[in-house]
Amino acid sequence: MFENIEKAYEYIRSITDFVPDAAVTLGSGLGDVADSIEEVAAINYRDIPGFPVSTVAGHRGRFYFCKIGGKNVAFMQGRVHYYEGYPMQACVMPLRVLHKMGCRLLMLTNAAGGVNFSFNAGDIMLIRDHISSLVPSPLIGENYPDGTRFPDMSNVYDKELTDIIRNTAAEIGLPIKEGVYIQLSGPNYETPAEVRMCRLLGADAVGMSTACEAMAAVQCGMRVCGISCITNLASGMSPKPLSHDEVKEMADIRGPQLRRLIVESIKKF
Ligand code: HPA
Repeated sequence: MFENIEKAYEYIRSITDFVPDAAVTLGSGLGDVADSIEEVAAINYRDIPGFPVSTVAGHRGRFYFCKIGGKNVAFMQGRVHYYEGYPMQACVMPLRVLHKMGCRLLMLTNAAGGVNFSFNAGDIMLIRDHISSLVPSPLIGENYPDGTRFPDMSNVYDKELTDIIRNTAAEIGLPIKEGVYIQLSGPNYETPAEVRMCRLLGADAVGMSTACEAMAAVQCGMRVCGISCITNLASGMSPKPLSHDEVKEMADIRGPQLRRLIVESIKKF
């Protein structure tokens, strides 16, 4: 079941011996965040045997390997989602490849809808915890050999890394929110009733990725942190209908600030 991880790893190793100290998954519209950082190597997902490739506009689909403050950083410019028809196990396969490459630290970013009444479109939210119970676990099925069967999820988002991001945001004068991210399947946006449900469950932001990746990364022993770009208020909270264009536009606007937060935080990891 996990042969594709081996194959992808071998292909990447035939191109570069880059060992990432940290990896950053860039969400919808955030792919440009890595652009002005000097490239060490880049590999298109479509060239990697057995690698899942995103079909979503705003997801570029490549690994971008670079250096930030002396650290080797692997950016994932785009990810695949459950709603594209990939099983959850395929959605987390890239993280397992990164782990195999030696990466032990993962920063997940995403575009998300704000569920908390105190949030505004354009807010940046540090992910403190997540709810993934409404989508299948990526850990179902044959057990990943590099992880335990019943992994503990009491500290998915590493406290030390989260503290560093919070302090960095304060240093660069970027106000941030904090909260719980809930992953739903998508691809449809939620109904207002579903958003009320998310709020009742204790979520502050809603999206279609991230929690599954965080779980798989934790299972194989990676330290994880996460940042959401609140691109819109969730359904029913504003009179405007939701659109992917709106999500990409806001992610574009907030991109430079997120980039600074990511880069400055990584230097301190
Ligand atoms: N809902 C789900 N996913 C999202 C949203 C949303 O409102 N905005 C960006 N990703």
